[in-house]
Amino acid sequence: MPTKVLVAYGTTNGSTARIAETIADVLRKRGVPTEAVPAHSVTDVESYDAVVVGGGLYAGRWHKDARRFVRRHGRVLAGRPLWFFSSGPLDASATEKDIPPVPGVRRVMTRLGVRAHVTFGGCLEEGAKGVVARKIVSSGKGGDFRDFGRIEAWATDIGSELVSGLRSD
Ligand SMILES: Cc1cc2nc3c(=O)[nH]c(=O)nc-3n(C[C@H](O)[C@H](O)[C@H](O)COP(=O)(O)O)c2cc1C
Repeated sequence: MPTKVLVAYGTTNGSTARIAETIADVLRKRGVPTEAVPAHSVTDVESYDAVVVGGGLYAGRWHKDARRFVRRHGRVLAGRPLWFFSSGPLDASATEKDIPPVPGVRRVMTRLGVRAHVTFGGCLEEGAKGVVARKIVSSGKGGDFRDFGRIEAWATDIGSELVSGLRSD
């Protein structure tokens, strides 16, 4: 049975987009057709068999595009195999330990029956949008804390679940 996966993401500075693209690459390499698309430009979720939603964290909340996406498409998402990820911490904490979802994301997870959530390290570098972002970078607290090994491993697990599970759904 053909399986098409959507990786929808909310990003301001592009680092969550690269995480989403990495997840999509891993799934495609496993033979699962996958598209990584900015959450705000997804119009049709019905045509996907499974969905991964990710968002950068801003002030303790998921990126607004990710929040709107799960609100708008909740009914369809609740009927699909669904995974969430967040990206945020600008230190090694996300590599060192499991960071639980922020409360708003946890509530949606319960409502929609999300299979798993992971928090990946974030990235904030020169050229980031916004006064606060630029202050963080100029004070030396920015950097790239995305762990692509961990991201690929997480995507590989999703691929295994999809390949073994979806066919029996
Ligand atoms: C104004 C601002 C607020 C942030 N708030 C949080 C936060 O609450 N929790 C967190 O883990 N990271 C926080 N971060 C770090 C971002 O989540 C991180 O830079 C992330 O990689 C951004 O994703 P994006 O590049 O896809 O927009 C914040 C960054 C900025 C600039």
